[in-house]
Amino acid sequence: MTGQERSEEKSECVSLSPMMEAVPAPPESERVCVFGTGDMGRSLGLRLLQAGYGVVFGSRRPHSSSSLIPHGAQVLGHAAASQSAHLIFIAVQREHYDFLVPLANQLKGKVLVDLSNNLRKNQYPEANAEYLQSLVPGAEVVKGFNTLSAWSLQNGPSDANRQVCPIVSLIMLSLCYLPGVLASFLQLYRGTKYRRFPDWLDRWMLCRKQLGLLALGFAFLHVLYTLIIPIRYYVRFKATERTVSVIRENRTTQFDTTTAWRGDSYLSLGILGFGLYVLLGITSLPSVINTLSWREFSFIQSKLGHLTLLLCTAHTYLYGWNRFLSSSTYKWYTPPGYMLCLVLPSVVLLLKLLLITPCVDRTITRIRQGWERGADQRNPKDSQPLIP
Ligand SMILES: Cc1cc2nc3c(=O)[nH]c(=O)nc-3n(C[C@H](O)[C@H](O)[C@H](O)COP(=O)(O)OP(=O)(O)OC[C@H]3O[C@@H](n4cnc5c(N)ncnc54)[C@H](O)[C@@H]3O)c2cc1C
Ligand SMILES: NC(=O)c1ccc[n+]([C@@H]2O[C@H](COP(=O)([O-])OP(=O)(O)OC[C@H]3O[C@@H](n4cnc5c(N)ncnc54)[C@H](OP(=O)(O)O)[C@@H]3O)[C@@H](O)[C@H]2O)c1
Ligand code: HEM
Repeated sequence: MTGQERSEEKSECVSLSPMMEAVPAPPESERVCVFGTGDMGRSLGLRLLQAGYGVVFGSRRPHSSSSLIPHGAQVLGHAAASQSAHLIFIAVQREHYDFLVPLANQLKGKVLVDLSNNLRKNQYPEANAEYLQSLVPGAEVVKGFNTLSAWSLQNGPSDANRQVCPIVSLIMLSLCYLPGVLASFLQLYRGTKYRRFPDWLDRWMLCRKQLGLLALGFAFLHVLYTLIIPIRYYVRFKATERTVSVIRENRTTQFDTTTAWRGDSYLSLGILGFGLYVLLGITSLPSVINTLSWREFSFIQSKLGHLTLLLCTAHTYLYGWNRFLSSSTYKWYTPPGYMLCLVLPSVVLLLKLLLITPCVDRTITRIRQGWERGADQRNPKDSQPLIP
């Protein structure tokens, strides 16, 4: 680096970390540069910092960069930033690549990583990386990281088994009980049970058994996966590492009663919920159905079914605990999956709660027993036959 470049770097440098002076700057080979401080640039920068690289951002406005820039990174002008690293990630939309043309000399011999994606297929005659190469002929252009979203870079990889199975199971279980609730409200609204439900509701009600059994399958996978977590190498490695570091640093850790309560409560509710879930599955076997009266079957499937939904929902609420109120949970201002999946079961349970309040329950029971609102004044031609 020339002396002039060094002074340029110093004048444009904005240290965002108070520790920056104390932390020795990584050697050039371990420094990487990211052009662009947008969503992708910042997410990538954060990951690179976490991986131990020094990160220098190249920005149009190094002095007015946002407070969202990861701690420990430097923000310089493009020219100065490009001098600090051999590897440069171009986290800028292709439409703005022309800002690189005046930098062509400084970028000679550097490796430029083109991250860009276009909005449409065949939007431009040549590939973005080819276009970049034509603008900066002296650089080595490579394409990469464009299939990773900024969101997933920030959040880290999600363990599909760990999160998808329980979420799908809870949503499917709610979808099993939603049509029943809708049917009840429809009957209440119409004041009779002698009118056919709309086709879509009819079909939905007919596939509840399949929905329920699939939901049980996903719950089973969730439980199985939860049980094998402690024997995973990664988990054992982390636990041992933590124990060793506590001993090495001669630290004492307190037993956290709240965490213990939280863990025990949500696990107990999950176990109870799963027990009832299995019971629903067993009572749907034809050989078992044949031994049950209609009342027994309907008590298990309807009453205990709703209780299963309540327990599984409470299990998930308790799993979230006070994280619902913590702003750090809402990365990118969006709630995590386990919060979103609570919307549907909560709605179903609230509607069911309305239906079992004494005054509504009395009316719906009378309707099911054959009572019709305004039956005396109704023209018999108005009623729709149940069997078309
Ligand atoms: C693991 C598992 C297995 C399952 N297996 C089965 C299965 O084998 N078979 C199955 O059907 N479902 C099965 N289900 C789905 C679900 O448990 C049942 O459909 C359950 O009965 C739904 O209860 P509900 O109260 O929502 O609906 P329902 O009891 O069907 O009631 C829905 C609405 O229909 C109307 N209604 C009910 N009874 C009457 C009546 N006598 N006269 C007039 N109207 C009436 C009312 O408006 C009522 O609110 C299963 C679910 C799971 C999770
Ligand atoms: N977002 C994703 O999930 C994602 C995933 C894969 C690939 N990508 C690719 O990554 C690139 C950046 O995406 P992004 O989502 O981070 O976009 P973005 O949030 O709009 O950020 C782009 C950044 O480019 C810089 N910039 C804007 N106009 C410029 C100009 N005229 N000249 C020079 N620099 C300019 C700005 O940084 P300064 O203000 O600091 O100059 C801006 O913050 C795109 O090519 C995109 O296709 C994005
Ligand atoms: C034996 C029974 C059960 C046990 C031991 C159990 C255990 C657990 C554990 C340990 C977690 C936290 C997982 C993590 O850290 O990511 C969890 C989360 C969760 N469980 Fe269960 N569970 C059980 C049953 C159920 C059932 C029946 C359902 C309902 C369908 C369910 C729904 C959920 C949901 C939605 C989450 C949040 C998932 C996430 O986003 O991380 N669980 N459960």
